[in-house]
Amino acid sequence: MKIAIGNDHAAPELKLAVIDHLKEKGIECIDMGCAIGEKCDYPNAAKAVCEKVVSGECDLGILICGTGVGMSIAANKVKGIRAACCSDYFSARLTREHNNANVLCFGARVVGEGTAIDLVDAFVDTPYSNEERHQKRIDLITELEN
Ligand code: RB5
Repeated sequence: MKIAIGNDHAAPELKLAVIDHLKEKGIECIDMGCAIGEKCDYPNAAKAVCEKVVSGECDLGILICGTGVGMSIAANKVKGIRAACCSDYFSARLTREHNNANVLCFGARVVGEGTAIDLVDAFVDTPYSNEERHQKRIDLITELEN
C-alpha cells in the first residue's frame, strides 16, 4: 500500500509521527505537506494529495490541518475523492467500510497523537465492504458529483 500525506503549518509534527507509524507498518508514504517552520495553505496540500489518489499512484490519502475541516472541504471538491473528517475510531473504520472513503482528514488541534494513530490504523486496516446497499449509495454520491 502507498499513501499520500499532506498537512499545513498546523500539523507538521503530527504528520511526521503518522509517517513514522505507517513506515513501521510497512506502508510507503509520499509526503506532500509542508515542513516544520513553513507556512502553507491547506487547499494546495489537499490538491496535491488528492491528485496522487485519483491518478492511482497512491491507494489512499491522509490530510491534517488544524481542525481537519478545511482539508476535507477542499479534498471533496476533487472529482473521485471521498474525504472524511474524523476524530473517533468508529467513524474512521466505518467510512472505509460503508463510504469507501479514500482520504482521511483530521485536526492536529483536535486530536492528540494517540488518537491520530488510532484513526490512521482504522482507516488503512479496514477494507471497503463492497456490499450492494453501500455501493448503491456511493453511486448516488458519484451522480451528485457529476
Ligand atoms: C490554519 O490556521 C487553519 O485554518 C487550518 O489549519 C485548518 O484548521 C482549516 O480548516
